[in-house]
Amino acid sequence: MLKETITVNHLKLRNRIVMPPMATGKADHGAPDDSLISYYAARADATALIIVEHAYISPEGMAHEKQLSMADDSVIPAYTKLTAAVRERGAAIFAQLNHAGARSKGSGLPAISPSGIPVRDDTAEAVPMTLDDIAHVTECFVAAALRAKAAGFDGVEIHSAHGYLLNQFYSPLTNHRTDAYNGQTLDGRTRLHREILQAVRAAVGKDYPIAIRFGACDYMEGGSLKEDIPEVSRLFAEAGADLLDISGGLCGFVLNGISQPGWFSELSRPAKENVQIPVLLTGGISTADEAEQLLQDGAADLIGVGRAMLQNPDWSVQAIG
Ligand SMILES: Cc1cc2nc3c(=O)[nH]c(=O)nc-3n(C[C@H](O)[C@H](O)[C@H](O)COP(=O)(O)O)c2cc1C
Repeated sequence: MLKETITVNHLKLRNRIVMPPMATGKADHGAPDDSLISYYAARADATALIIVEHAYISPEGMAHEKQLSMADDSVIPAYTKLTAAVRERGAAIFAQLNHAGARSKGSGLPAISPSGIPVRDDTAEAVPMTLDDIAHVTECFVAAALRAKAAGFDGVEIHSAHGYLLNQFYSPLTNHRTDAYNGQTLDGRTRLHREILQAVRAAVGKDYPIAIRFGACDYMEGGSLKEDIPEVSRLFAEAGADLLDISGGLCGFVLNGISQPGWFSELSRPAKENVQIPVLLTGGISTADEAEQLLQDGAADLIGVGRAMLQNPDWSVQAIG
């Protein structure tokens, strides 16, 4: 199955292998330079889709220094070179759009988050967001998506995993709001995601692929639960998502003590069973046989290979054979 084509919205992917987003911390003033472009192009042969490392949508949402930016138009020419270099090798390329919320660092601006609650031990308290702040975040996601489209990206991915802003809204541990974006109901916890998906969809048009990286379970007491995945997956698909990219929530992208390939498959399965759109699974998959097995077992429609592809740029070429 690994070699089979698949369609995301109207975009045909040549197989099921995805390079997931992995921050390199090598962006030059927010834009990819020639060496970063070569790094991505080198991993494009025989890969179906490259999701480029997270880019901040506005300066106060920056996660770290030397992160890529999609926050203003100055970056568009550099991304245009990047997308051309990857597409020339037959891979599709998505931009991952992110706001770090309480995990924001590096811009010198105060961090904002749903309720001001720190995430993990790497963040200080942030300023609780007003309704104006929330509306502004949606506008920034839309503007960033339009820049990505203008730069030749085949689609965009909204980042809602690994403890960043949208994950902070989804998690009851970090969302203590009591308004329409409240942390007590699925409606409140997913409201901002749905507003962003709908607003981005309205701006980019119905044929442009939109993915969401869904941190589907926090694996923490009082955090988000896998029981909610069917309902939330349906809500995201209804709001305009074309691809569900499953990962962990506040726990991050690894699961302590668990090393079996595809460790989030218990999260991707309930997503896949409840939506018609493709589901991507990433985490601990390092061989073509492991990827094939997970596809055969119905755990997902697409497989992300992160660190193995980081180490071996020819991973996809060797896997496809
Ligand atoms: C160095 C590094 C940087 C990462 N940066 C991002 C990122 O920018 N956005 C994201 O959603 N995930 C990020 N991740 C998570 C990966 O996309 C992936 O989920 C994780 O590496 C697990 O997959 P793997 O076992 O195949 O490496 C990063 C992972 C690593 C190792």
